[in-house]
Amino acid sequence: MPEGYVRLGEENWYYVLHPRPVYVVAAAWGGRVNFMAASWVMPFSEDPPRIVASLSKDSYTAELARRAGSFTVNVYAADAADFVYSAGTVSGRRVDKVRELGAEVSFDTATGAPRIVRPRPIGYVVARVHRVLEDLAEDVDLFVADVVEAYADERLFNESYGWVLQRARVLLHASGRAFTTATQLILASRRRG
Ligand SMILES: Cc1cc2nc3c(=O)[nH]c(=O)nc-3n(C[C@H](O)[C@H](O)[C@H](O)COP(=O)(O)O)c2cc1C
Repeated sequence: MPEGYVRLGEENWYYVLHPRPVYVVAAAWGGRVNFMAASWVMPFSEDPPRIVASLSKDSYTAELARRAGSFTVNVYAADAADFVYSAGTVSGRRVDKVRELGAEVSFDTATGAPRIVRPRPIGYVVARVHRVLEDLAEDVDLFVADVVEAYADERLFNESYGWVLQRARVLLHASGRAFTTATQLILASRRRG
């Protein structure tokens, strides 16, 4: 046991890799629209532009995304923590989350994927499913998807360096009901020599 560390178990090992951004993934198929909170989502490659998302085999959103072949990743600010938490604690298999949570969606013209317009995300990515790897884990499937389009709120984003942190307050998930945000800018020194 390394001195000064606590050993993490099966239940909480991944807390060491949080906080991390949490998004709302939305998908639609056969007249049904649904969305879910998802924090195990990340950029995968620039060439081609691809993301990966680890989505539960039980998730209704994942089922719709697989059938439709597309989904959106909606990025929220800290003030949307309640919405994101609700999106992650109720399944669309049981309730109509769009209605229950008072959300509104608009459909992307290229892919037909629904993006959330209310509550307003500070950014979003439209993704087309490239491949779904179903045999890597018992609980989740790995969605590998091409980035079709990406948008960020012009008041909160700088095209050269990304989110203006103090203003954007991008929502991060710590654990359980605990969320946080990153507002402090830390500029690393340039390497000399
Ligand atoms: C903060 C937070 C983050 C979550 N991240 C993920 C995730 O990355 N992948 C996943 O499959 N489920 C994740 N969940 C759980 C799903 O959002 C949850 O199972 C949801 O009810 C699925 O809804 P659906 O069946 O309507 O798709 C997360 C939940 C919360 C609250």
